[in-house]
Parts: sequence; C-alpha cells; structure tokens
Amino acid sequence: MIELAFSILAADFAHLAQEIALAERGGGSIVHVDVMDGHFVPNITFGPPVVKAIRPVTKLPLDCHLMIEDPDAFIPAFAEAGADMVSVHVEACRHLNRTLQFIADHGMLAGVVLNPATPVEMLFEVLPMVHHVLVMSVNPGFGGQSFLPRSVQRIRHLARLRQELGLNFRIEVDGGVAHDTVASVVEAGADMLVAGSAVFAPGKTEANARELLRLARAAGSINV
Ligand code: DX5
Ligand code: ZN
Repeated sequence: MIELAFSILAADFAHLAQEIALAERGGGSIVHVDVMDGHFVPNITFGPPVVKAIRPVTKLPLDCHLMIEDPDAFIPAFAEAGADMVSVHVEACRHLNRTLQFIADHGMLAGVVLNPATPVEMLFEVLPMVHHVLVMSVNPGFGGQSFLPRSVQRIRHLARLRQELGLNFRIEVDGGVAHDTVASVVEAGADMLVAGSAVFAPGKTEANARELLRLARAAGSINV
C-alpha cells in the first residue's frame, strides 16, 4: 500500500489543524512530524507539545521523525503526547537495538533512519525489529532541498535485502519527494512517501496531495 506522509514542516504553523485537514482531504494518510533539536541537525522545530496539540485534531497516525541527540530521553514524552510511530537516526543511537525496543515498549511503531552518507548495511542486525526504514533523500535539517538521485539505488538495495531476508518492514523516503521524483522512489520500492514542500501551498494543498498520490500509484501499478 502506497501512502503519503505529509510533512507539516512545510505547513502554515499558525493554522496547523486546517493544514492537516486539507492534506488529508487530498489523500494524505500519515502526518509526518519533523523534530529537530539544533544539535543533531542545524535547525530547531517542534517537540512533544506540538504532537500533543495536533493529536485531537486528526485521526491519522502521527509519524515522528526524531532528528535529535539522545532520542531515548524523549521517547516517553512522545508516547505520552500521542505519537504512533517514532523513527530514530542510526547516526544518533549508540545502542540502537535498545532504543528500538524502548520505542516498541512504549506502544509505538519503531523506525530507523539513514542519512544519505550512511551505508544501508549498517541496519542489517536491526531490520527484523523495525516497522519501517526511513531513507533520507536529502541531508536532514531543512525542507525544500533537492532530491539526491543516489537515493533510488539505496531504496532498491533495501528492498532487495528485505526480500532476501523474508522481512516485511515498510520503506519510507524523505526529502525532495515531489511530482518529478515520486515515480522513481516508488519503482525502487518505497511505500511511505514523505513530502512537505510538494504538498503545502496556499490554495493548492489538497490538489497537490492528490496529484502526488496519483503519480505514485501509477508508478506502483507498473511495479506489480
Ligand atoms: C528534512 C525533513 C523532511 C522535510 C521534507 O530534514 O526530514 O521531512 O520536511 O521536506 P521536503 O518534502 O520539502 O523536501
Ligand atoms: Zn522527516
């Protein structure tokens, strides 16, 4: 199943509830929440209080992408705030196995994220314990960056590994996913598509989401 995880980083923060409703009306089915701490990445965004604030305004799952140092310290707060999925960067976790287990112990779906410079093989030992793997297709920290073309091979590599190991984790892709790049990531095997700037635009959010999903599903049906 191909799903659009719209990134509220590109939304109008003064009207988050309405922005989420528009993207949902266009077919978006996951709310992607980009959490940045100014240390792991050179930008600061939002944390558990914003997750708590949007929890009652949508029934969609909240997918929290933690771009922070020491994610373990904040996992309980995200669970309490109502997060459904939490993904942590392999580059930020000294004890990745423990951290993923900690997320699951808090009743959330655990995901692991790879920066563009991190080899896919780094995840080999934890693949059986994750709900999803998030392949960064830009260097994390900002929305609106250009898609790194090598990401397509990385997604394909991960999809091959999943098949060889007989696993069924989902493959999420994040960064520069737009109308001109979405088909290539779907063809490579991604099925959770994060998009921010390609979705949110005044007066166009609903139509953008719908068109992005249409293109993704068209590429997906060629695949099967
Ligand atoms: C980047 C974030 C992304 C970002 C995507 O660090 O993880 O989720 O919001 O934005 P676009 O779709 O604009 O590249
Ligand atoms: Zn993200």
